[in-house]
Amino acid sequence: MALCLFPHLPQRPSDLLLRKQAGLPITILTAWDALSAAIVSEAGADAVLVGDSLAMTALGHATTLPVTLDEMLHHCRAVGRGLRRVGGEEPLVICDLPFLSYQCGLDDAMAAAGKVLKDSPAAAVKLEGAEPETLAAIDRMVRMGIPVMGHLGLTPQSVHRLGLRRQATDPVAQKRLREQALALEARGCFALVVEHIPDPLAAEITDRLTIPVIGIGAGDRCDGQVRVTADLLGFTDRQPPFAPPLLDGRGLAVEALRTWMRQRPTPAPRVAAPTRPERPATPSC
Ligand code: KIV
Repeated sequence: MALCLFPHLPQRPSDLLLRKQAGLPITILTAWDALSAAIVSEAGADAVLVGDSLAMTALGHATTLPVTLDEMLHHCRAVGRGLRRVGGEEPLVICDLPFLSYQCGLDDAMAAAGKVLKDSPAAAVKLEGAEPETLAAIDRMVRMGIPVMGHLGLTPQSVHRLGLRRQATDPVAQKRLREQALALEARGCFALVVEHIPDPLAAEITDRLTIPVIGIGAGDRCDGQVRVTADLLGFTDRQPPFAPPLLDGRGLAVEALRTWMRQRPTPAPRVAAPTRPERPATPSC
């Protein structure tokens, strides 16, 4: 069914590994609708992440927690419709599994990941963390043919436990993160996102893992970088400290619209409508 709906085969998760092996940088950008998908694919992103950050950037929530699997699928399909083929290939689409879609048991996790691959153009899913339950879910998904990307460090689905601060800042936490990265690779993840961790730790993990390590707020020495496109374009209210905007997109858009509104021609003065002659009052009997 996927092939009928999406006739052009996209890049595969394994293409990212080939890029790492060839020493080519990897760029992953988020998209949340057809327009953002067209922009990031025309710009030449290697992969498009339909991240659950869309809960904040597109849906106006304060955290990523409220977004549902059905909402992720709805946005993922819109992204699929907007993708452009650059150099003959569509970028790989990776879809985040949202909070509580994979934490409530193996069968639910498997069904959620399977639904993403069956009912959207995504060819891979991303899960946060490396708790034993998550590792077990990843193990089953990978064995059943579902490519999985891992995500360590700042994991926004754990915002109420970890906050949004830099992670793995002490030796104990760094050892734990190293072990988790190795465990995710051993379970068959095809790539790993490391968010807001010290640069030297990200570099070390990049060297130790065979799979591509994609950083955000983790320095320049990863195999690739991922960014929330709305942050890069200056569209978000809450700019993360590690993702400065490339332009003031929101300011530019507001100013352009204000200029257009000021320049609109003033409507011609209305011709006063002829007044109706007063009707004689109906005589009362
Ligand atoms: O949801 C998202 O956009 C992400 C990126 C920050 C990696 O997970």
